[in-house]
Amino acid sequence: MARRRMVYEGKAKILYEGPEPETLIQYFKDDATAYNAEKRDVIDGKGVLNNRLSEHFMTGLNGIGVPTHFIKRLNMREQLIRAVEIIPLEVVVRNIAAGSMSKRLGIAEGTPMPRPIIEFYYKDDSLGDPLVTEEHIIAFNWATQQDIDDMIALALRVNDYMSGLMYGVGIRLVDFKIEIGRIFEGDFQRLIVADEISPDSCRLWDIETGQKLDKDVFRQDIGSLADAYTEVATRLGVMPRNGTVTSGPKLVN
Ligand code: TMP
Repeated sequence: MARRRMVYEGKAKILYEGPEPETLIQYFKDDATAYNAEKRDVIDGKGVLNNRLSEHFMTGLNGIGVPTHFIKRLNMREQLIRAVEIIPLEVVVRNIAAGSMSKRLGIAEGTPMPRPIIEFYYKDDSLGDPLVTEEHIIAFNWATQQDIDDMIALALRVNDYMSGLMYGVGIRLVDFKIEIGRIFEGDFQRLIVADEISPDSCRLWDIETGQKLDKDVFRQDIGSLADAYTEVATRLGVMPRNGTVTSGPKLVN
């Protein structure tokens, strides 16, 4: 059998050439990294969970008309996606103060924001993904003003969808990061959600207990990351609980 061609290897995923033009296969690894890969480990099953969770979120987004790169899941660790030209920015949406914003601005973790706050970080590991302004983005040609407006609109729609989905299973969406790519259709280009949406790239807190159910469990060494992600997946009905496949999310009263 011919070996398929690897296109890109990142910290948590590998991209292979897809079966059709303009497609790629995205493989989810078990590797976990934090603090710009200074802390790393292999978490058994993380790739399987993130493949399923990203499929679940992106299928839902596609269903409500928020375009994403997701086409279909191929197996436990792989999904077929549309090839995009990635915009070199991480788009972060914050509903509640946490993480780097709490540290940078001295705002206590857990403080609700008066409205969702959007930040852009320039994707460059050697610089540690610095926070940048719209002025930088336009001046250095990473994206146009129109792209920025479209990215903000996309990010807010993802925020509303994900916040509602999580709230329904008793989880607060504190913040998250998305990446956005450009696709070309004839003379037109469109921006779509790319990369992944998973507990690796979100902060998720249990509404009742405040328990962390995201990558902070690994960053802060406060428990089992696989257990936290499994809890998210089972509440959403994406993974079976006690061997029984549920038909949908377990709503919290
Ligand atoms: P931060 O508080 O560290 O800036 O992170 C904000 C959110 O974005 C958090 O949910 C984690 C996510 N994120 C990533 O997934 N990758 C990144 O490189 C960054 C900067 C943030």
